[in-house]
Amino acid sequence: MIKTVLIIGANSDIAYECVLAMAKYFSPQNFLLASKNFETLKQTAQDLQLRTHIPCQSLALNVEDLNACQSFYQNLPLKPDCVIYTAGYLGDEIKAENDVSEALKILNINYTGAMILLESAAADMAAKKQGIIVGVSSVAGLRGRKKIYHYGAAKAAFATFLSGLRNRLCSQGVHVMTVLPGFVDTKMTKHLTLPKALTASPQKVAESIVQGIKKSRDVIYAKPVWRHVMLIIRHIPEKIFKRLDL
Ligand SMILES: NC(=O)c1ccc[n+]([C@@H]2O[C@H](COP(=O)([O-])OP(=O)(O)OC[C@H]3O[C@@H](n4cnc5c(N)ncnc54)[C@H](OP(=O)(O)O)[C@@H]3O)[C@@H](O)[C@H]2O)c1
Repeated sequence: MIKTVLIIGANSDIAYECVLAMAKYFSPQNFLLASKNFETLKQTAQDLQLRTHIPCQSLALNVEDLNACQSFYQNLPLKPDCVIYTAGYLGDEIKAENDVSEALKILNINYTGAMILLESAAADMAAKKQGIIVGVSSVAGLRGRKKIYHYGAAKAAFATFLSGLRNRLCSQGVHVMTVLPGFVDTKMTKHLTLPKALTASPQKVAESIVQGIKKSRDVIYAKPVWRHVMLIIRHIPEKIFKRLDL
């Protein structure tokens, strides 16, 4: 039974749909919603509380602030039995190549902040011998591409971290699930033209997450076609891959 769900990066479009889907399938008693933009978050939490009839508490958290990440979990009003990390930052690839602060921002939002927060959750859940940790990584982490390799490297680190955490916690009753969504139609990608057949809605991603939790899946893709796409992309020899304009 899931009583308390903590969502980090709760202003995300995927997070919003996750709250609705988690409410529908698991009827938890509380949602703890953490994100950077606190004004937006308070409105989102109010809206979600009205829609789900489940208390939604807003918590200010900038995951770039690594000290705040270290103390955040200890200071929670309630300890969650399910944590979903959805915070993410695509960043500006060209800027990241020339400006280390942009490169570090991409790394810290997509990986370092997640690693610190989820280690705290892992310790708590391992002690209780139960819990669910869901991390939203990306197919961009499965192979480096010139257009997006800082984001991809951070997502690769996150996926590898989740894999190790799963390996460590599986004998302690804690389920760790990695989400590789492929393209999703959200505010993060609104400036891009995405291929329809490869693009999922945030609702579809949330539905896959809920089903993945129910079936205790380890790694999920929101659209199954991405499993095949990435199998092909990962097997292209480096000699050829380095010349492609992907
Ligand atoms: N959209 C896609 O095509 C796609 C594909 C693969 C993976 N993903 C991943 O899916 C996850 C959700 O993204 P989305 O598509 O739903 O995009 P989104 O709506 O832009 O959500 C990203 C959220 O991350 C939060 N965030 C950014 N910096 C933060 C910080 N320093 N501290 C706390 N929160 C911060 C933002 O919250 P604030 O508004 O509070 O700043 C924002 O709402 C991300 O991890 C993303 O990388 C997305």
